[in-house]
Amino acid sequence: MKTTISKIGASAGKQVTLGAWLAHKRSSGKIAFLQLRDGTGFIQGVVVKAEVGEELFAQAKNLTQETSLYVTGVVQTDERSPSGYELTVTDFTVISESHDYPITPKEHGTEFLMDHRHVWLRSKRQQAVMKIRDQIINATYEFFHEHDFSKLDSPILTGSSPEGTSELFATKYFDEDAFLSQSGQLYAEAGAMALGRVFTFGPTFRAEKSKTRRHLIEFWMIEPEMAFVEFDENLEWQENYVSHLAASVLKNNQIELKTLGRDLSKLEAIQAPFPRITYDEALAFLHEKGFDDISWGDDFGSPHETAIAEHYEKPVFITHYPTSLKPFYMQPDPNRPEVVLCADLIAPEGYGEIIGGSERIHDYELLKQRISEHNLSEETYAWYLDLRKYGSVPHSGFGLGLERTVAWLSGVEHVRETIPFPRLLNRLYP
Ligand code: 4AD
Ligand code: MG
Repeated sequence: MKTTISKIGASAGKQVTLGAWLAHKRSSGKIAFLQLRDGTGFIQGVVVKAEVGEELFAQAKNLTQETSLYVTGVVQTDERSPSGYELTVTDFTVISESHDYPITPKEHGTEFLMDHRHVWLRSKRQQAVMKIRDQIINATYEFFHEHDFSKLDSPILTGSSPEGTSELFATKYFDEDAFLSQSGQLYAEAGAMALGRVFTFGPTFRAEKSKTRRHLIEFWMIEPEMAFVEFDENLEWQENYVSHLAASVLKNNQIELKTLGRDLSKLEAIQAPFPRITYDEALAFLHEKGFDDISWGDDFGSPHETAIAEHYEKPVFITHYPTSLKPFYMQPDPNRPEVVLCADLIAPEGYGEIIGGSERIHDYELLKQRISEHNLSEETYAWYLDLRKYGSVPHSGFGLGLERTVAWLSGVEHVRETIPFPRLLNRLYP
């Protein structure tokens, strides 16, 4: 197997051949510095005229950005370089030239970059964000498998809509009406009754006409669901999971965090337990802060969430929202049925809600009543009601939005940079 830049240290002092692209180049009359990238990392290739000869040196000086190459050279230890190594080039061959590469070192506007997302992904910053995304996915599997959860795949084409009917992408399923999944939760609940602890991970779709730095039309969600778990334990799972994600990124993505200029102390602070406040307490806090635009029963908007989050270093749970604000399946508080046993987890630094979750109704009659109050069809939810007929148990779960979590841990302003090909309002290209 060929070596990669990430593993090049194992070949220190030896000659290797790498497949790479030219990211940047600097040169003088006698020496050329090639910034090489192969996706696993970056390394500087040094081409010395006196060593390689006139012809190859002239070719090196003419190499253009993103030209692909096989480069042969000797691996040198170099403490000044970020990778710790440098390559003394002895030979190279061009695989394919690149001309007029659109993403240059100069500043580009957002729309231009979004139109060129297919190549923008090659830039150092975008690679760093994608690697952090990948690490968060990896750490998710690690955390849940370690705690005996099974990954359960929920369908993308569905006939039901857990999170309300207003934001559905409708399609035809032959002669039936179907929707793109908004959430795998209801299927995860069936899974939890079979396997005890499950998590889904897949794309979800919301036809939301929101144009904010937190909203995507297609986003990926991780949805754990646990039998025999009630409200409080559900929050413990969330804080432990999110703390694991932060620790894992800190441990495995030092190079990427540095590329992104992330303040590491912000990530180090993310350790369970997280503070918890009720909706009522949050509302009182907002009123104290002078927000007179909301009253009991109103949902919090992003300025409200940000004001609350600014008060804490860690993510904060807001619990017990008014029942009227939340979906039909949430368990009402037995002492106060006007609120539900739910929590939203709000990230620090203005990243907003990264998790929504709750205990689920496990009583058959109550669930049936809620389905009817929400004007949902009992026929569509017959299978979901069945779960309450055959040995129903208390159970809880939550959904973590992957892109918002990537944005927060990476310190990236907008979710459009946290998914390879973002689907946004008015953007389906590329
Ligand atoms: O709060 P939501 O809508 O909850 C659910 O879908 C539940 N069924 C989850 C569950 O209990 N299993 O969405 C969960 C999370 C939000 O907290 C947010 O992080 C993310 O999904 N999210 C979005 N991310 C990007 N763009 C959007 N349009 C999002 N909508 C929700
Ligand atoms: Mg929510």
